[in-house]
Amino acid sequence: MRVHRGICAKLQGGFLRRWWAAVAVGVLLIIIGAVLATLFPKIVDALVDREVALRDGGRAFGWWKEPPVRPKMSVYIYNVTNADEFLNSGEKPALQELGPYVYIQRWSKADVKFNNNDTVTYKIRKEFEFAPELSAGSEDDLVVVPNIPMLSATSQSRHAARFLRLAMASIMDILKIKPFVEVSVGQLLWGYEDPLLKLAKDVVPKEQKLPYDQFGLLYNKNGTAPDLYTIFSGQDDITKYGMVERWNGKKGLGHWSTPHCDSVAGSDGSIFPPHITKHTILRVFDKDLCRALPLVFKQEVMTAGGVPGYRFVPPADVFASPSRVPSQKCFCPAGPPCAPEGTFNASLCQYDSPVLLSFPHFYLADPMLREAVTGISPGEADKHQLFIDVQPNMGTALRARARVQINLAVSQVSDIKQVATFPDIVFPIMWFDDGIDELPTEMRSLLKMAVDVPPIARAAVSGALGAIGLIVLIGALMCLARAARRQEKLHLSNPLPANGKTGMSPGFQNPTGAS
Ligand SMILES: *[C@@H]1O[C@H](CO)[C@@H](O)[C@H](O)[C@H]1NC(C)=O
Ligand SMILES: *[C@@H]1O[C@H](CO)[C@@H](O)[C@H](O)[C@H]1NC(C)=O
Ligand SMILES: *[C@@H]1O[C@H](CO)[C@@H](O)[C@H](O)[C@H]1NC(C)=O
Ligand SMILES: *[C@@H]1O[C@H](CO)[C@@H](O)[C@H](O)[C@H]1NC(C)=O
Repeated sequence: MRVHRGICAKLQGGFLRRWWAAVAVGVLLIIIGAVLATLFPKIVDALVDREVALRDGGRAFGWWKEPPVRPKMSVYIYNVTNADEFLNSGEKPALQELGPYVYIQRWSKADVKFNNNDTVTYKIRKEFEFAPELSAGSEDDLVVVPNIPMLSATSQSRHAARFLRLAMASIMDILKIKPFVEVSVGQLLWGYEDPLLKLAKDVVPKEQKLPYDQFGLLYNKNGTAPDLYTIFSGQDDITKYGMVERWNGKKGLGHWSTPHCDSVAGSDGSIFPPHITKHTILRVFDKDLCRALPLVFKQEVMTAGGVPGYRFVPPADVFASPSRVPSQKCFCPAGPPCAPEGTFNASLCQYDSPVLLSFPHFYLADPMLREAVTGISPGEADKHQLFIDVQPNMGTALRARARVQINLAVSQVSDIKQVATFPDIVFPIMWFDDGIDELPTEMRSLLKMAVDVPPIARAAVSGALGAIGLIVLIGALMCLARAARRQEKLHLSNPLPANGKTGMSPGFQNPTGAS
């Protein structure tokens, strides 16, 4: 107090006007602090928008082009253990779920080119490496699975002329093609020579030709895919950041009956437009899924390294049948009948093979599908639900699991003797669980900083400004009060020398009364 009085005394008199200036500065600092506190989130958002946009040479671009993560794909195969009994005595297929067979991947973008309209064009490159130490079996394990090329051909022929089906039966006789094949896991995934595809390749007219003579569920997927993607870089319009603008030069797949269902406008699942809320609907486009998949908020989660995120999952009716959810009609252009509840008919994207996609273990699908076979446990959200955890402010995926099951919709064709006893059935083939568990430490700590620092910085900056402003203000007011009282004393000391107690009264409240 003594020091304070000293400063006040020194700066009194001629400097009185300075104290009024100090009051103004104090008030100003408090106002700036308050304004900053309200504007701070907007400033941070603008910084985030700048930082995440894809720019040649930028950090976000580097992470997008060569993600510093090693995604893991776990494959589970349904081994058929009663193929003969199923065909000859009409037993339900008995399935044995084998796996996981785990592949560690390296993802990157190839042929990246910036266009001068806020878009980037590229191809996707994925490399798979089998990880025996993480797998519950070897790539050489022999499995018995439905002969997909054959059953595709026979199922497709059910509307063709009868003589064609009979011809098909004779050809299959000669080539000794059977409805089930025994192949190794590696062959089933990465390709084996299929006599039917080879024949088709040799005899079918060029324009209808299948592109391969090998069959494999992931055939030709190891390496750079030929599809050309054009996405928005977010430099001009952050709300479209990462969204596919064109896929192979087209805005739609060309398969579905409404522009919304057909649209390829979705992200690749690694980056999303920032500032995600719990009401945001994310869209992920995957060409093998044959559509853009909507994802809705499910819950708040904590991911590796203490980075909080939002979990997004497909809505429960995403694969609903059009008879229950009429808006799904667009995915059934040839129907009715349409794909059963909980399955998605992807045959138009699979060279007309009757491929039905579903979630693993028929999660959220018609229970009849699972009950038509034995050996599949009921689907559970924890193990079988597809999800993506995102950091909402930045729109970065923190953890993701693409979980999809591949089924073959077989139609009974009695004219083809090899498959005459193969009933109409949705036959599960395999499922996979593909994604990332955690980001590398470097990315994680940056994200954590982006989450933790803004609120602290906001509190610190506006708090400090407010506090300094308050100190200056109070100090200045006290000095002013003291100065005013002193003057009052000086003025009053001559006429009323005995009145010492006036000094105790708050002079500030009555500064003008004294003069
Ligand atoms: C798959 O099932 C067949 C019987 O159909 C069996 O011989 C084979 O050992 C099974 N494969 C594995 C890896 O268990
Ligand atoms: C941007 O330019 C690329 C290449 O010229 C083109 O393919 C794409 O359609 C353009 N996108 C927009 C939104 O104009
Ligand atoms: C994928 O290709 C790489 C080389 O490009 C090779 O090392 C790897 O073994 C292949 N993976 C599979 C599963 O074939
Ligand atoms: C799947 O779609 C194709 C082509 O639209 C159609 O021919 C086929 O009947 C559909 N399959 C099912 C099971 O709905």
